[in-house]
Amino acid sequence: MSDRRKFIKDSCTACVGLLAFTSLSSLLSSCVSLPVHSATVTNNLIQVPLESILPDEQMKIIRSKSLAYDILLVLKKDKKHLSFLMKCTHQDNILVATKQGMVCNLHGSHFDLNGDVKNGPASKPLQRLKTIEENNYINIYTA
Ligand code: FES
Repeated sequence: MSDRRKFIKDSCTACVGLLAFTSLSSLLSSCVSLPVHSATVTNNLIQVPLESILPDEQMKIIRSKSLAYDILLVLKKDKKHLSFLMKCTHQDNILVATKQGMVCNLHGSHFDLNGDVKNGPASKPLQRLKTIEENNYINIYTA
């Protein structure tokens, strides 16, 4: 390969890498500082009291010493709340919550607030946990 061709190929590879990094950086810069709810898991159930949720709250991190990963609780006005284990489905890295969803800072996977993959290399959606609002609690089933 001529020097000129090699220079152009190397430059293009660097640009693609920079573009990918810039895209991930802009996503990570929109990281949100979410309220954290410390919880206990009893018989595979976490109960989040409704009174602990502010009226305009849209997301909350649920943390328990007995879980290896935090849970992202996405609150919906129609009470069809969603919750996901914040564990990347590519290689199990801990995810970071942003306004647009969750980002993996290891290889750049991005998941939306439904847990679906928006950018790989992850190819599987996030593990969704059964979540039901009832009797003044949001119940999250961990198994
Ligand atoms: S571990 Fe998350 S993208 Fe690789």
